[in-house]
Amino acid sequence: MEFKRNIIITGGAGFIGSHVVRLFVRKYPDYRIINVDKLTYAGNLANLADVESMPNYVFVKADVADYEAMLALMRDYHVDGVIHLAAESHVDRSIKDPFTFARTNVMGTLALLQAARVYWESLPERYEGKKFYHISTDEVYGTLPLDGGLFTEETKYDPHSPYSASKASSDHFVRSYHDTYGMPVVVTNCSNNYGPFQFPEKLIPLFINNIRHGRPLPVYGRGENVRDWLYVEDHASAIDLIFHKGRVAETYNIGGFNEWRNIDLIKVLIAAVDRALGNPEGHSLGLITFVTDRPGHDARYAIDSSKLASELGWRPSLQFEEGIERTVRWYLDNQEWMDQVTSGEYQKYYDEMYKGR
Ligand code: NAD
Ligand code: DAU
Repeated sequence: MEFKRNIIITGGAGFIGSHVVRLFVRKYPDYRIINVDKLTYAGNLANLADVESMPNYVFVKADVADYEAMLALMRDYHVDGVIHLAAESHVDRSIKDPFTFARTNVMGTLALLQAARVYWESLPERYEGKKFYHISTDEVYGTLPLDGGLFTEETKYDPHSPYSASKASSDHFVRSYHDTYGMPVVVTNCSNNYGPFQFPEKLIPLFINNIRHGRPLPVYGRGENVRDWLYVEDHASAIDLIFHKGRVAETYNIGGFNEWRNIDLIKVLIAAVDRALGNPEGHSLGLITFVTDRPGHDARYAIDSSKLASELGWRPSLQFEEGIERTVRWYLDNQEWMDQVTSGEYQKYYDEMYKGR
């Protein structure tokens, strides 16, 4: 079958990537979607069980930092679009193992850019009809004071963790490929995502699982840090819109103007899980355990996504309360998924991470 477009989505077996792959495979049967993922601890093909047999879906196990493999994929599949989500994504891991973050997030992005450049420049039409879309994070902007301000697309980069430093570096490489070689790129910086299929090292799935099992909830510092939360399917819908309609060489911030202090969010989670389990109100509040703060812990993130709203008309579809209810329900209903991803290596890492905190 001849496809209208051939699009590589990297990191498609991860949390956000699996939602993006699912959306594209279902919505665009005339696009071939090539999911390129190394299947690290965070990648799980079970996240895509419902689309794996679709005729327009292909999975390729590969490392984005393997330049030769990326170039071969570009050629073999006649790729005209790249949506790049593959990354090491957890801040706490980056503090323990920064090299892996530099390798995947910086060198991996560079290898993919160079493969796209070499392939697209070999074609008679060169960059016409091509797009390289890089998914980044609001963490590259650094931190905001607790009492005000928002990150805009003009905010100066000021990353503080090895994770955000590696993402910032990759963003610069992507923009440099536009400025130097004329590659049509677009970059988006999104706030914290939540929803189904998120690896339970991140706050929301970790805490839902711990509440369910009556385990302590390790709150860093005093729980006063603020994050801006977006339901993952709303991020995927923004990616779809920007991939098709976003202007080349532009940056768009993605967020739902939905800031929460960690401790307040944790109380909402406790109430939702207790309700779902039929526990009396306040039952699990005693699990809150204040632990040593994360080194370099950014105080507050808050995204101004008004450019995306005014230029492309994007709005999040879900209210936070509904998103949290759905998310809690999903994790409670999918204990098998949770057991699968928390067995083995991850459990050792978790025990190591929280020993003595
Ligand atoms: P994740 O950790 O859940 O998934 C990452 C995926 O990338 C996994 O499937 C993993 O196997 C794959 N991967 C890792 N290294 C690879 C490599 N070298 N080659 C090929 N595949 C590799 O991450 P996520 O939370 O879904 O984040 C996806 C992207 O979105 C990342 O680029 C992240 O920086 C960005 N982002 C995440 C959030 C968030 O809240 N989670 C917010 C904004 C931006
Ligand atoms: O802002 C976007 C970023 O959001 C993404 O780029 C990252 O990939 C993603 O992991 C996320 O980063 P955070 O560090 O904000 O997410 P995390 O879930 O790790 O933590 C959310 C907040 O909760 C943060 O202030 C740290 C705190 N926390 C986290 C964990 C895991 C705790 O208090 N206890 C915990 O056990």
